[in-house]
Amino acid sequence: MIKPIGSDELKPLFVYDPDAHHQLMHEAESLPSVVISSQAAGNAVMLGGGYFTPLPGFMNLTDALGTCENMRMSNGQFFPLPILCLLKNVDAIRDAKRIALRDPNMEGNPALAVMEVENIEEINDEQMAFMTEKIFRTTDEAHPGVKAFNSQGRFAVSGPIQVLHFSYFQDDFPDTFRTAVEIRHEIAERGWKKVVAFQTRNPMHLAHEELCHMAMERTGADGLVIHMLLGKLKPGDIPAPVRDAAIRKMVELYFPPNSAMVTGYGFDMLYAGPREAVLHAYFRQNMGATHFIVGRDHAGVGDYYGAFDAQKIFDEEVPEGALEIEIFKADHTAWSKKLNKVVMMREAPDHTKDDFVLLSGTKVREMLANGIAPPKEFSRPEVAQILMDYYQSLKKQ
Ligand code: ADX
Repeated sequence: MIKPIGSDELKPLFVYDPDAHHQLMHEAESLPSVVISSQAAGNAVMLGGGYFTPLPGFMNLTDALGTCENMRMSNGQFFPLPILCLLKNVDAIRDAKRIALRDPNMEGNPALAVMEVENIEEINDEQMAFMTEKIFRTTDEAHPGVKAFNSQGRFAVSGPIQVLHFSYFQDDFPDTFRTAVEIRHEIAERGWKKVVAFQTRNPMHLAHEELCHMAMERTGADGLVIHMLLGKLKPGDIPAPVRDAAIRKMVELYFPPNSAMVTGYGFDMLYAGPREAVLHAYFRQNMGATHFIVGRDHAGVGDYYGAFDAQKIFDEEVPEGALEIEIFKADHTAWSKKLNKVVMMREAPDHTKDDFVLLSGTKVREMLANGIAPPKEFSRPEVAQILMDYYQSLKKQ
């Protein structure tokens, strides 16, 4: 099986031993504590599940700046972007050696992790702007990821962590939330050798479904892991439970048995386009995938990124040899009226734009909200039905 990054084995930071877990829960009760940001909680959940192997916890400022500069920490270790715990106020933990990090997304703010504090550093304006620009390629506060990143606070608290739970993801998505450890196990159990991973934050329409089939065929894969984001999204994006139901229906009806796993991970969307694509590839290697699909405007938002910037970054900025997972770079896929099937546009050079069924996201949302199913060349009817029900339920609220 493909090795995790920088390590022979996954290093999940969740405390699996029941006695140790019990003791740590007990200790956490009496430790100085802080409620962390939702983004930091997502980082802790990812660290807990082994996705960010071999990181031992939250980065200090030097490592954070290094990952922004050239995707390297001070020890030379590759990481695509900073994994930070940023706080607005550190009064409650200023002189503490061990602290509890409390979950902002669960009632009562239970302890999510315990940290061995190594550093508390204040980030200045220049450093914050540098990181923002490197991660998002913009400092525009209208960018939802920039806004979220900059609203967390300026104190970086860093050090190794031990993770106590997987936040609301395990309770809310018991069939879908999986750690990297669990996905590796399941891949091994199914006997898959070549595995394609598909990132998504959207319901899958026909172009996405066919993109997955194409990637599997062309790479000779045994299986596909659909790995959806379960964390926070910008307003207007389809909530995870609806997307989950739509994707499950599609897999049930249109994928051969034992060819696709429907799974998800607990992390808020960054909308960081190219940099997020590299992070996506990073943790897909850690969960055991050998190939990762990067298509058009991967992890993008608005007009901040070129349609294929998230593919180019793998050739232009990712250090040589840092990733073993192979990137399946897909062109824009759409239904061809001439060929009666979904194709990659660059593979139909004789076509003009009018030869494809192309609908904008806004147009599709408008149709679904009005109870009109998009054409079958765009959406599976069963998927469209789930989405129409969701939009209709919004209208009734
Ligand atoms: S993302 O933010 O999670 O990347 P989305 O769920 O829309 O958004 O996309 C999932 C994956 O499918 C990404 O790799 C994206 O580039 C790819 N993709 C989405 N639509 C198309 C399309 N029409 N053609 C090619 N690739 C696409």
